Amino acid sequence: MTESPAEVWTNACIATMDGPEPFGLITDGAVALGNDRIQWVGKRSELPPPFDRWPDKDLHGRLVTPGLIDCHTHLVHGGNRAREFEMRLMGSSYAQIAREGGGIMATVRATRAETVESLFRSALPRLDALIAEGVTTVEIKSGYGMDFETESTMLRAARALGSLRKISVLTSFLGAHAVPEDFRHDPDRYIDEVCLPALDRAHADGLVDAVDGFCETIAFSPDQIKRVFERARQHGLPVKLHADQLSDLGGAKLAAGFGALSADHLEYTNAAGARAMAESGTVATLLPGAYYTLRETRLPPVDLFRNHGVPIAVATDANPGSSPITSLLTIMNMACTLFRLTPEEAFLGATRNAALALGLHDRGIVREGYRADLAVWDVDHPREIPSRIGPNPLVDRICGGGT
Ligand code: NIG
Ligand code: FE
Repeated sequence: MTESPAEVWTNACIATMDGPEPFGLITDGAVALGNDRIQWVGKRSELPPPFDRWPDKDLHGRLVTPGLIDCHTHLVHGGNRAREFEMRLMGSSYAQIAREGGGIMATVRATRAETVESLFRSALPRLDALIAEGVTTVEIKSGYGMDFETESTMLRAARALGSLRKISVLTSFLGAHAVPEDFRHDPDRYIDEVCLPALDRAHADGLVDAVDGFCETIAFSPDQIKRVFERARQHGLPVKLHADQLSDLGGAKLAAGFGALSADHLEYTNAAGARAMAESGTVATLLPGAYYTLRETRLPPVDLFRNHGVPIAVATDANPGSSPITSLLTIMNMACTLFRLTPEEAFLGATRNAALALGLHDRGIVREGYRADLAVWDVDHPREIPSRIGPNPLVDRICGGGT
């Protein structure tokens, strides 16, 4: 890891994701970087002193964008679910597999057998795959422990990833992800006796940046999620929710009622949910990887979100079951092809709006005073990036000024 010295990048095409132009594009631009921050951005011809005397680096017309932000992942986990991949190909559904004790619970069993160290080691290549595509901030959830110890173990592994690599890691406590076997007939008791105490402990240990849950017929009811969110509120922690993925339980509205940073998935969200999200400033995080993997047919109501002015983010949802994908670039393509987002919306979804989904106001756009989290790409125009699957045109990436 090296810290980059103060310098000006010149001869750059800059997709600031800020301002009225599509992609906030500035051609023949310059960006001055120092003290881990963006010091100035604009047209090269307008570069003011003292930046015009700073050492410069010619980007030869390459594209600069904000570093990408993956705002929803389950990167830390044990085992794999390739057997379930085969089962789904033979006709089983995600919900069926879950009801038979597979799905999330299969990963819980595998994760409970791991240590902080082994979870960290198995997650590192997945994190490196994201970094190789220009990701500079990633959210990582717990939720495959669902006992007092393992939830914390997962979050410690996530924190350790953030200290080894030059990337910001934000953690979400997801104790309410699936009902463990021993509580099958009494999920309320799981919430009271395991989930809430585990949250208290993880928070006291400084391991929690936000609190998440899974509100679904195969997971937790709105009332149960409410109790988790109330505890989050007592701790002053922001919330987010896996909502309306397989059915409409009013999850988006519930999340918005708690001022959630984001509601995620949202295939079944209704107009009232979208309206409530607009009022509370809750980001709609779309997860086309899960939609693709589970061969869902119900599309998230993108037009409702657009019409109500709900910011849309996109994320990998990287996990071993419903979205075994560690490519945010591929996800941006899927968001366009499957959900009909424009390339600009996909870019906003992986930068500016993804930052909002994490409650971050110092990144996601290229603007003076913001973090120097940037990606440099060998393309002529940002729309090229989500238009393809496979090529990785990233040529440089800095995070907080360093590589
Ligand atoms: O975001 N929807 C619930 N949770 C995860 C699935 C995790 C898993 O299947 O292991 C998701 O898709
Ligand atoms: Fe998820």
